Amino acid sequence: MAASGVSSSHFILLFVGLSFISNRAESIKYEPNWKSIDSRPLPAWYDQGKIGIFLHWGVFSVPSYSSEWFWYHWQGPQPFASVVNFMKDNYKPDFTYADFAKDFSVQEGIFNPNRWAEIFNASGARYIVQVTKHHEGFTSWPSKYSFNWNSMDVGPRRDLVAEVSSAVRKYPNLRYGVYHSLFEWFNPLYLQDRNNSFKTQDFVFGKTLPELYELVNTYKPDIVWSDGCNGPDAYWNSTNFLAWLYNESPVKETVVTNDRWGNGALCHHGGFLTCHDHYNPGTLQTRKFENAMKLDGKSWGFRRDTALKDVISIEKLLQNIAETISCNGNVLINVGPTKDGVIAPIYEERLRQMGSWLSVNGEAVYNSRPWTFQNDTVTPGVWYTQRKDLKAVYAFVFNWPSGDFTLAAPQVTAETKVTLLGYPTSLSFTGLGQKGIVIHIPPIPFNQMPCMWMWTLKITNLAN
Ligand SMILES: *[C@@H]1O[C@H](CO)[C@@H](O)[C@H](O)[C@H]1NC(C)=O
Ligand SMILES: *[C@@H]1O[C@H](CO)[C@@H](O)[C@H](O)[C@H]1NC(C)=O
Ligand SMILES: *[C@@H]1O[C@H](CO)[C@@H](O)[C@H](O)[C@H]1NC(C)=O
Ligand SMILES: *[C@@H]1O[C@H](CO)[C@@H](O)[C@H](O)[C@H]1NC(C)=O
Repeated sequence: MAASGVSSSHFILLFVGLSFISNRAESIKYEPNWKSIDSRPLPAWYDQGKIGIFLHWGVFSVPSYSSEWFWYHWQGPQPFASVVNFMKDNYKPDFTYADFAKDFSVQEGIFNPNRWAEIFNASGARYIVQVTKHHEGFTSWPSKYSFNWNSMDVGPRRDLVAEVSSAVRKYPNLRYGVYHSLFEWFNPLYLQDRNNSFKTQDFVFGKTLPELYELVNTYKPDIVWSDGCNGPDAYWNSTNFLAWLYNESPVKETVVTNDRWGNGALCHHGGFLTCHDHYNPGTLQTRKFENAMKLDGKSWGFRRDTALKDVISIEKLLQNIAETISCNGNVLINVGPTKDGVIAPIYEERLRQMGSWLSVNGEAVYNSRPWTFQNDTVTPGVWYTQRKDLKAVYAFVFNWPSGDFTLAAPQVTAETKVTLLGYPTSLSFTGLGQKGIVIHIPPIPFNQMPCMWMWTLKITNLAN
C-alpha cells in the first residue's frame, strides 16, 4: 500500500515535470543579446559529427595565385609585390578584378557536384561548409542584393549554392552549411559606414543582412559560418539576426553557427568558437570549438603553383584531428577546387585516405567525448577520447607502438580489455600499480595492419 502510494505520487510528479519541460521548450524565445543567444544548446549532430569539409571556391579561384586574398593583396592599402608584379607581367593595365569573373566558367562534363559529393561522403566527413560569398563580395547564388556580381549574372551563369547543396544532401551522412563574409573589402557602402565610425548601417541593412536572410530562407543551411568581423557586433546587428535564426528561421531546430559575428563576438559569443584560423588549443576547452585548417598549408583558395611540400601529409592531418577532438573540438578541413570546379587529385587522395582511416577508427571519433586526460601524461604522441556508451577509452597513437607500450593515464580494473581497432584479437597487458598500463603489442605482419597511419587502442572498463 505504502509502496504503491509512493509510486503513484512519483508518477504524478513525473507527469507534471514532463509537461512543464515540454511547455518550456516550445516557449523558449531567444532574445537579441549575447547572454540569451549563448544560452542555446548546440544541436547534438554537430558535436557527434566531428569532421567537416570547407570549400573555398569563388572568383579568386580564377587567378589561383597567392591566395583567396588576391584582390586585396593586389589593390588594397598594403599591396604584395608578388601579386602586383603578377598582374603587371600577365595582364593589360586596364584589366580589373571583375574581369576575372568571366573565366569562372564551369563547363558540363568538367564540373560535377555529384562527383564532389561522392568524394566528401567517402572522406567520412559529416558536413560541408561552402564559401558562398568571400570578402570579394561575389555571391555564388543569384542574390537579389549582389547585382551583376553573382554566379548567375557573370561567370558560371549557374546557381552554385543550389547545385552543391543538392548534391551533398543526396548523402544521408552529410549536412550542408554556408560560409558568408559580413564585410567586403571594396564595397563603397561598407567603406562609407566605416568612415562614419560604423554609426551608419547602410551596408548592413542594404547588403549583409538581406543576403543572410535570403541564403537561409532559400537554401536552409544547417551551418551559418560567418566571417569578416571588421566592425562592432552591434553594427552588424548580429544578435537580431541570430535571434531570428534560432526562433523563427526554417532551420531553427538544426542550425549551428560560429563566433565570427563582429568585433567583440569572436572567441566569445555565438555557437562554437573558432577564435582564429587553425585554432588547436591543445588543452580541454569547456566550450565547443572548431579547428579550421587547410590541406594546402599556404592558401584556402586553389593555387596553380602549390608544391607537394605545401600539402599536409595524411599523418599530420590525422594527428590534427586527434588533438582537436580530444580537447572538445571539431575539425573543418579546407579544400580549394580549381576555377573549372575540379578537386585536384592530391586533395582527393587526402580526403579518401582520411575516409579509409575513419572506416576502421571511426568508432573512436564520431559520437566520442573528451576524456579526463586529453593526451598521455608520459608518452608523447598519444591523445584520448572516450565513449561512455561503450565504457571505452580510445588512445590515438601517432607512431606504431611496437613491443611493450606504456600509457600512464589509464587505471585498469579486473574487467579491463585492450584491443587495437581493426585487429581481430585482443591484446595482453600489465596494469601498473595505482595507474598506468603496459600493452604488449604482438608482431603484426604488415599485410594485417588494420590501417597505415595513426593507430587506435581501445581500452574498456577502466577505473578512471
Ligand atoms: C557513403 O560513405 C559511407 C562510408 O562512410 C559508405 O558506407 C557509403 O556506401 C557511402 N555512400 C554512397 C552512396 O557511396
Ligand atoms: C572616407 O573619408 C576620407 C576622408 O576622411 C575620404 O577621403 C574618403 O573618400 C572617404 N571614403 C568613403 C568611401 O566615404
Ligand atoms: C538592429 O539592432 C537594433 C538594436 O538591437 C534593433 O533595435 C533593430 O531593430 C535592428 N534592426 C534590424 C533591421 O534588425
Ligand atoms: C600533452 O599536450 C600538452 C599540450 O599540447 C603538451 O604541453 C604536453 O607536452 C603533452 N604531453 C606529452 C607527454 O606529450
